Order: sequence, then C-alpha cells, then structure tokens
Amino acid sequence: MTTIDTLNSEPTALPQHVAIIMDGNGRWAQLQGKGRVVGHKAGVESVRDCVSTAREMGVKALTLFAFSSENWQRPAAEVSVLMDLFMFVLTREVKRLHKNNIRFQVIGDKSRFSTKLQQKITDAEQLTKNNDAMVLSVAANYGGRWDIAQASKKIAQLAVAGEINVSDIDEHMLNNHINLSNLPELDLLIRTGGDFRISNFLLWQAAYAEFYFTDKLWPDFKAESFKQALASFSARERRFGKTGEQVNLSTKKD
Ligand code: IPE
Ligand code: IPE
Ligand code: MG
Repeated sequence: MTTIDTLNSEPTALPQHVAIIMDGNGRWAQLQGKGRVVGHKAGVESVRDCVSTAREMGVKALTLFAFSSENWQRPAAEVSVLMDLFMFVLTREVKRLHKNNIRFQVIGDKSRFSTKLQQKITDAEQLTKNNDAMVLSVAANYGGRWDIAQASKKIAQLAVAGEINVSDIDEHMLNNHINLSNLPELDLLIRTGGDFRISNFLLWQAAYAEFYFTDKLWPDFKAESFKQALASFSARERRFGKTGEQVNLSTKKD
C-alpha cells in the first residue's frame, strides 16, 4: 500500500490546496444497470471521505467541482436531482463541517439557484466563517471563464469609478479578484473518471498546479485513493520555470 508516509515524510510535500473534478458518477451507476442519479447519490460518500481525509492529513484548502456552468445543459430531471441533492447534503453535513472547524464556501454564480438554496448556502457560509482548520470550497454553477470574466468586470468598474488607472492592471490585481485568491495557491488538481481535461474548472488558478488523473469513477474514489493522489504529488519535482539543478540546490539549502 502506498501512502504519503511511505513515499515522503517531509511535511512540505503535502499539498496545501487540492482541487477535485469529481467525474464519473453517471458511468458508475450505468455500469450497474442503474440510473445516473444513483451515481450522484453514491458520490456523496466519496465527498465525505475526501473532506475528512484532507482535514486529517492537514490539507489547508479543498476545492470540489460539483456543478459546472455547462451542466445546466443536462436533462432537466438530472439537474433537478443534483440541486435537491446539494440542498439535502448541505442541510445534513454543515454541522459536521462546523464541528471539525472547517470553513465552507460556494464559488460560482449563485444567482441561478433557487432562493431557498441560496439562503442555505449563505447560512452555511455564515455559520462556518471563522473556522480555520481547512477551507472547503464547493464550485457550483462555476466556470473558469466566468471567473476570469467576473474579475475583469470588477476591475473595469474600479477603473470607470476612477479608483484605479488602467496602467495599474496587472496579474496581481486580476488574481486578487479571482475566486480563491485568499487561499494558498492550487497545488494539486485531481480528476477522476478517466478523462484528461479541465472542463472549464480553475483555469487561472491551475497555472502551476500538478495534475493527477485517475480512471477511478468518483463513487469509487475513497480515502485510500485520495491518499494515493497526495503520495503522487509528494514525489513530483515542481520547477516553476527553473531548471532541476536550481530546484535541487535551493531545497538542499533549506
Ligand atoms: C460528475 O459525474 C458529476 C457532475 C458533473 C455533476 P458525471 O455525472 O459527469 O458522470 P459521467 O461523467 O457521466 O460518468
Ligand atoms: C466536469 O464534469 C464537471 C463536474 C465534475 C462538476 P463533466 O462530466 O461535466 O465534464 P465533461 O462535460 O465530460 O467535460
Ligand atoms: Mg462527466
């Protein structure tokens, strides 16, 4: 069994910020001759497993892709089940998150959700806002392009109001208006379900993330699989544009 402990015991090798594209629910259910919805329900267990494992391992931020801005194009019945499930899970799990000192937030365009769901989200965010063991961000009605566009819009408003000059606009400013900028940089991006794509997830934030793709379908991705992804991360050499020699030299100096 490979765990993060067996591969690398350095605490620095643990990713501070992990994001997951939780894919493969529908196929998981279909493989058992069941409807796609069964897969979404089963996937909730994997969410619980990964949240608690991340928290136990000391990951500082976990960001989960639950519903993309493109997922509205699915059959109305499936969308409606996903919304109900979100509501149900939020109601059931928020106390546990709070007890575990986890801050919860939703990123994405919330305005398209029902008022009831929006209220539930706000309540959960309010309740957990001072927790500091880990930040759990759920991306719902989220798109990476939307995120970059909404940041640009805010900056344009500042420019129009005369609060900034156009010449002040740089990567740093854009970054400050993008979601998750208050968290550690994204270190590890996991995608389950066997596909090799980002599906409009954290386009900006993934600039230097390590990618981890697995064939495992989301409902089969449990604590042990999560630990395997962390172990894989700990064995990577992150060069950030430098040469391997430069990186090795600076790690030796530390
Ligand atoms: C991911 O599983 C969950 C959501 C996108 C909401 P899918 O529903 O995409 O499952 P597959 O990819 O069709 O198997
Ligand atoms: C990505 O999965 C979105 C979520 C996991 C919420 P999709 O199943 O929607 O991705 P594509 O359409 O196959 O790229
Ligand atoms: Mg899918």
